[in-house]
Amino acid sequence: MGKILLFKNPQLKGTIEVPGDKSISHRAVMFGAIAEGKTTVYHFLEGQDCLSTIECFQKMGVDIQREGDKVTIQGNGYGGLKEPIGLLDVGNSGTTIRLLMGLLANQPFSITFTGDESIAKRPMRRVVDPLRKMGARISGKEDGNFIPLEMNQSELSGIEYELPVASAQVKSAILLAGLHAKGTTTVIEKAATRDHTERMIESFGGSIHIDGNMIRVTGNQVLSGKDVHVPGDISSAAFWMVAGTIVPNSEIILKNVGLNQTRTGIIDVLKEMGANIEIQLDKLGELAEESGTVTVKTSSLKGITIAGDIIPRLIDELPIIALLASQAKGKTVIKDAAELKVKETNRIDAIATQLGALGVDITPTDDGLIIEGEQTLHGGTVDSLGDHRIGMTLAIASLISKDSVVLNNVDAISVSYPGFFDDLIKLVSIQE
Ligand code: S3P
Repeated sequence: MGKILLFKNPQLKGTIEVPGDKSISHRAVMFGAIAEGKTTVYHFLEGQDCLSTIECFQKMGVDIQREGDKVTIQGNGYGGLKEPIGLLDVGNSGTTIRLLMGLLANQPFSITFTGDESIAKRPMRRVVDPLRKMGARISGKEDGNFIPLEMNQSELSGIEYELPVASAQVKSAILLAGLHAKGTTTVIEKAATRDHTERMIESFGGSIHIDGNMIRVTGNQVLSGKDVHVPGDISSAAFWMVAGTIVPNSEIILKNVGLNQTRTGIIDVLKEMGANIEIQLDKLGELAEESGTVTVKTSSLKGITIAGDIIPRLIDELPIIALLASQAKGKTVIKDAAELKVKETNRIDAIATQLGALGVDITPTDDGLIIEGEQTLHGGTVDSLGDHRIGMTLAIASLISKDSVVLNNVDAISVSYPGFFDDLIKLVSIQE
């Protein structure tokens, strides 16, 4: 499906609350499904990715009921999962497949994972390798690198593993396997990645030991169900933070945005580029995940270099940061972000070709992008390429384009932000 987007002198004003955090929503269902007792998740992200996680557990016999963004899970413990009939289909969701591989590796039954065209291209050896070291028996295309992947009954033992790539999915898969493995499992990460799994192990009554960049769990843990209030997804809020900064005469207030320090690289970048952005922290909730109100106003920006340890803290925001950079004074250089190549699309290529098609002077490099500033976007025909974050970046780009933007494959946006265009309509008005 395509959409024609044309705005003449738009401005963005108003207050919204973005949908629940994708990473936390996935994990809340996973933990609820293996915990003992009832878990209720509030402000759950009703995007297709998180619905795929629910469907996988329903196939394993877990009673999960959903009324809008409230999800109730009756957990029967890790041993309460049943052998699924047929395949576990993860759809477009890398988090679902990678975390479930770790979580289910110690189950006494066989599982076959499948997914969509994009998942079929995403590398799984990064998870399969450490799980094999723990004793998991996994086979699949190209020695287990691609779906369909079959996991057979095995017994796991703890390992010590230094992550070769900065990936919260890989870290989480190993920790989740470690919760039910024999002995102790230790993960060492070179750069800090999102730590929602670690926080959730504690909040579901499990034990975890963190010492600097070393994270350790022991096996045979029993978790207890609980209420989870999911904060808004900073990765979704990022589109409005950038839109409010680059669209003239705008002021946007974003309520209940998740502000976990491992995710706030976008705010650091906006501040360094000179954006007018204010943060007001909320009281810390029972999940121990920080949240707050973010207010942004139209700003003059300057180009910067984005590289090193900040990259994992804003990896999903780089598409919209590329658009932000196109409106700054001077050049912006993004480095150390080769991981972009193995996201829902090769995002280095996708960002460069699609923003390029709208008139942005942008050069892809081996591990990032070089974006010239003060660009005029002329509009044109572009494509999400099936990637939600590319789709939303292009929709925001249409707000500053002189002519119309025809956005093809717009449906992909529902993966993480089903109400994206409703929120856009709520915020936008046309200046006379
Ligand atoms: C996620 C981790 C990141 C991120 C993805 C969600 C998670 O992926 O890009 O959208 O929930 O753990 P990587 O672990 O591949 O960096």
